[in-house]
Amino acid sequence: MKTVTTVKEMRALTERWRRNGKTVALVPTMGALHDGHVSLIKAARAAAQRLVVSAFVNPTQFGPGEDLDKYPRDLKRDARLAANEKADVLFAPASEEIYPAGFDTTVTVGTALTQTMCGLARPHHFQGVTTVVAKLLAIIRPHQAFFGQKDYQQTLVVKRLAADLNTGCEIVVLPTVREADGLAKSSRNTFLSEEDRRVAGAIYQALKLAEGMLQVGERHPKELLEAVRKRLKSEPKLDLEYVVAKNADTLEDVLILSGRVLVAVAVHLGATRLIDNVIVDVPSGS
Ligand code: PAJ
Repeated sequence: MKTVTTVKEMRALTERWRRNGKTVALVPTMGALHDGHVSLIKAARAAAQRLVVSAFVNPTQFGPGEDLDKYPRDLKRDARLAANEKADVLFAPASEEIYPAGFDTTVTVGTALTQTMCGLARPHHFQGVTTVVAKLLAIIRPHQAFFGQKDYQQTLVVKRLAADLNTGCEIVVLPTVREADGLAKSSRNTFLSEEDRRVAGAIYQALKLAEGMLQVGERHPKELLEAVRKRLKSEPKLDLEYVVAKNADTLEDVLILSGRVLVAVAVHLGATRLIDNVIVDVPSGS
């Protein structure tokens, strides 16, 4: 496996692959690879003839006071993991390579998908994500790019971007990989103390509670959300940012839960922000 750090070399490689008729898959990450990333890498490896894993801690998607400086970085380990999964290239550019002097373009997806949930507390976050993802798609020109359901709102925003900008790239979304107690794997879990790690288990339990309620017929968002909040609040250290139940395709609020329902939460545990979600298929009219 080759580690590539310049846009020029990355483009040259993918242009050659395309010329030779190879299919190309991309797994975009911010590095600090864990089993969640690895599941995307495995699926991408099986899907295409050439595989690029990108590892770039994208400064534009972090707000002031967020954890950009302490975000975990271990490029050697990332290269080892990507090589184990038989990636062809680890694309790990420096910040100045992606945002050189004079860089002055921002890609923004409309407010319905971005000014809700994570976009409320992190107003510039999705703009940073869409700008860097648009650049990665332009540099690498993959046929398919793989994303995790853990960041569900991000998957909708990226799908919108990929379609609207005629990238010709299919966005593939894969299920959330979890720890034994259900906590979604995340690079930020390494920040949790042993006690906080135990507390964090309540997040998935609260989401499973919502899933169970939907399965036995609860259709009112108010009752559902109250039960989820109550479960989360039973762990006083969890500070709730949002708890929502929405139409999973549009992120609209609904009066009656039916069709594909998204239940999503964001919590703070000390200085660490954690998000998770479940999607439940609720037969309409049931
Ligand atoms: P990062 O947080 O590194 O995540 C990279 C990809 O891994 C995302 O698609 C994310 O949803 C997925 N992922 C993370 N945890 C997962 C889990 N437990 N199970 C399955 N997939 C999981 O998301 C980003 O980076 C950035 O915003 C990025 C898209 C790279 C743009 O900078």
